[in-house]
Formats: sequence, C-alpha cells, structure tokens
Amino acid sequence: MSDDRLIVALDVPNVVQGLDLAARIGDAASFYKIGLGMLTGGGFALANELKQEHGKRIFLDMKLFDIGATIEAAVRGIAQYDLDFLTVHGDPQVVRAAQEGKGGTGLKILAVTILTSLDRNDLDDNCIKPGDIHAITLDRAARALAAGADGVIASPQEAAAIRALPEAAGKLIVTPGIRPTGSASGDQKRIATPAQAIADGADHIVVGRPVWQAQDPAEAARRVLAELPPR
Ligand code: C5P
Repeated sequence: MSDDRLIVALDVPNVVQGLDLAARIGDAASFYKIGLGMLTGGGFALANELKQEHGKRIFLDMKLFDIGATIEAAVRGIAQYDLDFLTVHGDPQVVRAAQEGKGGTGLKILAVTILTSLDRNDLDDNCIKPGDIHAITLDRAARALAAGADGVIASPQEAAAIRALPEAAGKLIVTPGIRPTGSASGDQKRIATPAQAIADGADHIVVGRPVWQAQDPAEAARRVLAELPPR
C-alpha cells in the first residue's frame, strides 16, 4: 500500500473513467477523492468499488450543508458504507449534526471553512461579517474543530496557522492546492509543494490535475510521493 498522505482527486466525469484512471495509477496511490462533479456519473458507486474491491481509502468530497436533521440522516446513510473522509461545511451546527450521524463509525468529518474561490467581495455579497478573510477562515476552523470536526480542509496558506490553533491538536488538516515542483499551477492561485504543505502541518495533500492529466498518472503520483518527507 502506497503512502496514504497523498490523496488523488479523481476529477473525471463518470465511474468508467474513474475506474480506468485508478487502474492506470494502480499501486501508486492508495487514497482517492471523489467529488460532486461525479455525483451524477456514479461517484458513489465508484467510491464503493474502489473501497471494497480495490482496498483504497476514500474521501467523499460532498461539502454538505443543510438543516441538522437532514445532515444527520445523510451522514448516517453515508457512514454505512465504510468510507474514510466526508466534507461538510464548517458551521458548528452542521458539524455537530454530522458527528451525530456518523455515530461510532470510523468516518472522519472534515470541515470546509471558506471556499478558496471566494474573496472579500463575495463574502460581502453573501452577508458574511466584515473583516479579514484569513482571520475569518481561522475563526471558522477553530469553531468547527471545537464543535467536533475530525479535521479541516485548508489551503496551503492557512495550514500552518490552523495547525497552531489549540483546537487543532490531534485533528486532521487536509490541503488541496498542491503542485509538485515544476508543474503547472492551472487555476490554483495559492499553491504549495507537497513538502511545504506537510511541513506546515498538513496530514494529507490532495492532488488532482498534476496526476490525472499526466501522460503517465502512476509515474506522476510516484513523483509526488518522492517529494514527501519521511514519516
Ligand atoms: O487539480 P487540482 O490539484 O487543482 O485539484 C484539487 C482538488 O481539490 C479538486 O478536486 C478541487 O476541487 C479541490 N479543492 C481545491 N481547493 C479547495 C478545495 C477543494 O482545489 N479550496
């Protein structure tokens, strides 16, 4: 089993392409992220197949947000399937409901703080309180962790500050926006290398396009792994 600090985002549209990609990556990755883009393309079936038939760990990136009763029911349903990570929005009432729903299962609830696509103007449009976006992100992370989240999703720019929060002791930090040394940044603006993200306190890094768009995705995944410091 390869180093599970690397989570490869399977951002392809359907289960057929997802299985093909996972087969090409083979043993070079042991942890996959499946997100909303594949929801209508059989994402949940793919998650189960990769978990049950191929022994992979699965991060279901659903970013759930709803009333408590609905969150609890949704997470209770997902928790039956022995998946590993699930994202919800980091509002404390959502996190608490998700924790109720997961019960005694091993599913880890990861909180999303503020989407990195949002800037201060977007927050104003959404009636989110004034103030520095970095400070609000840290505050949301602290509140989500205090409400019982098992971890948070953090940009590489936030990982170190979140790791330093007392609320983050023993919690997971999962960091997207990672670019291996020398690869294209694409639309990611705030990026870090795999080694930098781990040094800043990330437990797992999420890498998408640099792996799945590569000519040889297995080789690309191995190159990312080679950049990680020893455990
Ligand atoms: O292709 P790339 O490595 O940029 O993909 C990163 C993955 O992490 C994608 O699935 C993307 O949606 C997700 N993500 C992100 N930035 C966030 C949250 C999630 O890139 N702030």
